[in-house]
Amino acid sequence: MIGKDIALAIDLLKKGEVVAIPTETVYGLAANALNETAVLNIFKIKNRPSFDPLIAHFSSFEKIKPYVKNIHPKAETLAAEFMPGPLTMLLEKQEIVPDIVTSGSKKMAVRVPKHPMALEVLSALNFPLAAPSANPFGFVSPTSALHVEKQLGEKTPYILDGGECEIGLESTIIDCTEWPFKVLRLGGLSLEKIEACLGESLGQNLIQNSNPTAPGQLDKHYATHTPLYIVENLCAYKNIDKKTIAMLAFGDFETNEDVFVLNLSKKGDIDEAAQNLFKNLRHLDEQNFDEIITSFLPANGLGKAINDRLSRAAHKD
Ligand code: TXA
Ligand code: MG
Repeated sequence: MIGKDIALAIDLLKKGEVVAIPTETVYGLAANALNETAVLNIFKIKNRPSFDPLIAHFSSFEKIKPYVKNIHPKAETLAAEFMPGPLTMLLEKQEIVPDIVTSGSKKMAVRVPKHPMALEVLSALNFPLAAPSANPFGFVSPTSALHVEKQLGEKTPYILDGGECEIGLESTIIDCTEWPFKVLRLGGLSLEKIEACLGESLGQNLIQNSNPTAPGQLDKHYATHTPLYIVENLCAYKNIDKKTIAMLAFGDFETNEDVFVLNLSKKGDIDEAAQNLFKNLRHLDEQNFDEIITSFLPANGLGKAINDRLSRAAHKD
């Protein structure tokens, strides 16, 4: 069931049920992080392997403190600037956090979402909410309540509708347990902003491999059912095989080909493109084209994270 009943969402979460909640990045599939049965249900609904840990969500950085230890001073600096916001920090966890949340790791991913409804729900609870993105494992993240309903509606007791997600990409994940901090996932907060806040570059510290610390980093992830291909110059693309093709464009775009085109941002605004990315991918995926063709965006601001999602969505086994 979809609705805007915050009191109902709070009530269900207190009872140990799973509720989909809106955040500024993507929708999350939330449950009491301190209740192992509730957390197990998240894994079941998502069909998520138990080795893939969850982010714990809190209403403020102050509320995070009792659950973690040895907070690095620079992590305090990041928290003061970006919490609430699209930043997830890995910190050393305290014993009270069940191992199922972190898949046995001593580090816990924590985040304060910047969405009024999520914050209202979190403030009313005396426990954090474990919440992965509210999509079946490996698929594109949901940026509206309807996306969640389509894929997980039957299994999810309640979907709290907070409108379309403002940012549209998952949070940026930084391992803050040790200096220099490491970037585990590019996301809705640009590295430029993080580096400006820290006064240091993190560029060398991006973890990139296919045996990842953050399984969102698997080579193939965020997959569409329709094969996705990335070409260098979308305007020059020729549909020689006469397949039914959809194009995902960006900025000033023209083609003479007879193809269906969605533009992530006609005015070439990267933030707007981020907001539209998953919605547009889903929209194209639902129409049974033979192929979706796209190009990388300029690699500045959220462009890097968008290109990261596109490469993973395009990855073939
Ligand atoms: O924006 C977001 O981060 C959204 C919203 C709902 O908050 N959540 C989200 O969660 O994207 P999820 O589970 O789809 O992606 C979280 C990523 C996963 O790749 C997971 O492996 C990694 O974070 N992660 C979580 N806890 C971790 C830990 N203790 N150590 C390493 N990686 C961790
Ligand atoms: Mg996810």
